[in-house]
Amino acid sequence: MLSTRLSTAATAAFAMALDPELRPATKPEFGHFQTNLALRLAKPLGLAPRAIAAKLVEHLQVDDLCLPPSIAGPGFVNLELRTDVLADGVNAGVSFPPRGERVVVDYSQPNVAKQMHVGHLRSTVIGDALCNVLSYVGYEVIRQNHVGDWGTQFGMLVEQLLDEDPKQSLDLDSLQGLYQRSRVHFDSSPEFADRSRARVVALQSGDPETRALWQRMVDVSLTEFERLYARLGTGLTPADVVGESAYNNELPNVVDELTAAGLLTESGGALCAFLPGFTGRDGSPLPVIVRKSDGGFGYSATDLAAVRHRVRDLHARRIIYVVDQRQALHFRQIFALASAAGWLPSTTTAEHVGFGTVLGENGKPFKTRSGDTVRLATLLDAAVERAAALLDERAGSLDGDARAEIARAVGIGAVKYADLSSDRVNDYVFALDRMVAMTGNTGPYLQYAHARLTKLLAKAGTTPGAVTVLESPVEQRLALQLAAFGSTVEQVAETLQPHRLCGYLFELATTLSAFYESCPVLTSDGETRASRLALCAATRRVLADGLGLLGITAPDSM
Ligand code: ARG
Repeated sequence: MLSTRLSTAATAAFAMALDPELRPATKPEFGHFQTNLALRLAKPLGLAPRAIAAKLVEHLQVDDLCLPPSIAGPGFVNLELRTDVLADGVNAGVSFPPRGERVVVDYSQPNVAKQMHVGHLRSTVIGDALCNVLSYVGYEVIRQNHVGDWGTQFGMLVEQLLDEDPKQSLDLDSLQGLYQRSRVHFDSSPEFADRSRARVVALQSGDPETRALWQRMVDVSLTEFERLYARLGTGLTPADVVGESAYNNELPNVVDELTAAGLLTESGGALCAFLPGFTGRDGSPLPVIVRKSDGGFGYSATDLAAVRHRVRDLHARRIIYVVDQRQALHFRQIFALASAAGWLPSTTTAEHVGFGTVLGENGKPFKTRSGDTVRLATLLDAAVERAAALLDERAGSLDGDARAEIARAVGIGAVKYADLSSDRVNDYVFALDRMVAMTGNTGPYLQYAHARLTKLLAKAGTTPGAVTVLESPVEQRLALQLAAFGSTVEQVAETLQPHRLCGYLFELATTLSAFYESCPVLTSDGETRASRLALCAATRRVLADGLGLLGITAPDSM
């Protein structure tokens, strides 16, 4: 709003349209916002910056929002919001009307017959946060859990199961063992390899016995995934599972349409698309393999069918893929090919939300000492245990059940927050000590800020009303930050970077601490007390909503 007013003033004064690049003031005595527009105009206009600033201010109409603007130093224009405007900004709260637009979010995507690993944890946590944020700003969100439940490995798995004992009891662990044995078997026995290949064909063409065995493996895996989802508290439900297998019947037609469009080339028996601009380091063209030489379809064919389905049947305006950064090339190729085929029109944007690798404390990809994938359940247990120890230190007066519940919220919240708080494209080190700490940019720090506010508000004994008095600079800063919640969330929906919301919440909690130090709440009187309580209530709400958007529970006490 202020930016627009400044642009209008610049146009009126100098017939120039320029972005005022409004910045938060560096010191309270400079007001709330500052622009160096006059300094930037000095050269093109050939005038002294202070003279330009004066003319700008002359044309600036902001009486309804600000105190009279002032000119400082070499020609900065300082703006100070009126306190009633600041108060309104807090009291109004945030709400977004529905946009009438759909966004499909492809996330979590574990693989059947394998344990979920930390990469799947990242996808689940980031994907959940983005779904929450997108729906908050008015999108209609459709979650798609693109489970890896299809492909040649299932031929081996089914064949191995038949060779051993098809009635053996299965869980995810024994499935993983079965998978490893089938691999060894496949590599050592050409006869088994042949049977496995025939079995894939049987599976893909719907042979009932094969399908039933495959379905059992899928069910066993999904049951365990669901258990983990429940612990994590994700927004994913079984209805969101639309695995790779769901596109099986579409695959021949995908090939037909691509062929008709002249996009496929035969190469060594496989059907490939060679797209302009995709070359390897040595300059050789990089193909998208749509159908393999054995006639089977792979990961790319499935993803092409999925894009088409999401645009054509789900009417997505945005399609978001929360997948490891290492698949960036795959998605660029899929998007390019889908566009070329006309399945991804310019009215739908497809975005790969990539993320970095989770590292162990040794700086290498996170694995157990023996090199196996770390069990997510074990990891979450450890986090919750740490959180319980943290709560013990604080000598809380809570009883067992309530404490266990809070430890769960704090432990899981800490892991999620650590994942979300750094720029997602970066790798990060999984260090529980730092994640489950009460100080620094951590989940527990924010949860504590929320719990402390809850306690304060309960003590106050009145229902908070509206913010009316904002005298101290810290109060004003807090109000200013609270009013920025909506635009921050909007920015996250735009950039798909949850760490911006984390940064915002951390700054808010830091300002809250400064506010406690200089502005007594419960011991103040009259309107000041009422207004400060309202400010506290608004801060509590933003912390709870913000954490909620990140998928983190905010307990009332800690
Ligand atoms: N299941 C795959 C994996 O674990 C990720 C799938 C990502 N989604 C997609 N539409 N390709 O690596």
